[in-house]
Amino acid sequence: MGTPTPHAHAVVHLDAVAHNTALFAAATDAAVLAVVKADGFGHGAVRVAGAALAAGATWLGVTTCAEALQLRAGGITAPILSWLHGPLEDFSAALLAGVDLSVSAREQLRAVAACAARLGVTAEVHLKADTGLHRNGARPEEWPELVRLARDLAAVGLVRVRGIWSHLVSTAGDTTRAQVRLFDEAVEVARGAGLRPPLRHLANSAATLGAPRTHYELVRPGIGIYGVEPDPRHDFGLRAAMTLRAQVILTKRVPAGSGVSYEHDYVTDRETTLALVPLGYADGLPRAAARHAEVSIAGRRHPVAGRIAMDQFVVDVGDATPRTGDEVVVFGPGAEGEPTVADWARWAGTLPHEILTGIGPRVPRRHVATLTEELSLA
Ligand SMILES: Cc1ncc(COP(=O)(O)O)c(C=O)c1O
Repeated sequence: MGTPTPHAHAVVHLDAVAHNTALFAAATDAAVLAVVKADGFGHGAVRVAGAALAAGATWLGVTTCAEALQLRAGGITAPILSWLHGPLEDFSAALLAGVDLSVSAREQLRAVAACAARLGVTAEVHLKADTGLHRNGARPEEWPELVRLARDLAAVGLVRVRGIWSHLVSTAGDTTRAQVRLFDEAVEVARGAGLRPPLRHLANSAATLGAPRTHYELVRPGIGIYGVEPDPRHDFGLRAAMTLRAQVILTKRVPAGSGVSYEHDYVTDRETTLALVPLGYADGLPRAAARHAEVSIAGRRHPVAGRIAMDQFVVDVGDATPRTGDEVVVFGPGAEGEPTVADWARWAGTLPHEILTGIGPRVPRRHVATLTEELSLA
C-alpha cells in the first residue's frame, strides 16, 4: 500500500466473499479453486483467500509464484496453483513452499524438473492445453510430446501430474463446446500415455454457474467470488464484495455558467453546489467514465462534473446540502441505489475486472466480516 488517501477507503465485505464462494460450491460437485490473483482482484489476496477457504473453496489460483508466496507468507496452507511463469523463472521458492505449477511447454517442464532435482523434491504440475484461447498452453500438435515428457519425469519422481487444464474463451455457446471437445481429447492423449491426473479443470465463474459440462473435478471462479455477475443476462444472487467510499472534502456554491475541472468540459447550467471528492485516476477511477458517471451522497445520485483528475473529482449536487465530511459512495452493492462497479465499467467502456483491480494503493482496504462491523467503522 502507498501512503493512504485519508478521506477515502474501500470496504471489503468478507461475508460477501463467503456467500459467493458458497454459492459456487453449491453449484457444482467439483472442488472450488478461488482465483485470488492481482491481490484478490484488488480486494486483498490473503484476506479473501481466508474467507473463501472458510466458505468451501479448497484451492487457490494465482498468476505468479510471487503471488503464491505472498499467500504462504500470510499463513495460507491450502493448495495453490500458479500459472504464468517467465522463461528464466526460478521455481525454487515456490516448490519449497508446496506451490503447484502450471506447465505449457516441454522447456518449461524441463526447467521445473531441473529445479525439483536440485532441491530433492517432487514438483506438482498441471499441464495446460491450449484449446482455443491461444495464450499459453500447449497446442494439440505439441501436446503428445509434453505428456510423454511428463510421464517420463513422473516415473523418476521429479514431477507429479496433479492436473490437466485449460481456460475458456467466452462465457458459453459453440466456442465452449469446441473447447470441451479439444480438452477431452487432450485428456485422452494423456491417459493414452499412462498419466492419470486426479484433477481436470476448465470452468471460470460463468461456466461454473452456467455450463455443468465444463466442471470436471475442479472449477476456477474469479470475478464471481468478488460479487460481479459473470453473465450480465443472469442474476445468480452474487453479492458485491467492495464498496468504494470517500468523504466530501469541500463544497462551494457557484453561479450558472461556471466551468468545472480541466478544460471546462462541464459548465453549470444553473446556480448549483459543487462537492469535491478526493479520489482520481491515480486511485483507479477511469477518466473515460466522467461524462456518464454518478456517485451517491446521502442516498441520492449526483453526476460527476467535468474531468476526473489524478487525485480528485467534482460532483454537481444541485440544491442538495452535503457538508464537509459527508460520505460519498462511489460504488457498492447497489442495494441503496448507489452505482455498482458494473455501472462504472459501463460508463468507462471497460470490464468490472479492470475497475476492481485498478483501485490503487492509496486507497486503504478495510476488511469487515459483517454489516455490524462495517457500521462501527463508518
Ligand atoms: C486461468 C484463469 N482461470 C480462471 C479465471 C477466472 O475467470 P473469471 O474471472 O471469469 O471467473 C481466470 C481469470 O480471472 C484465469 O486467468
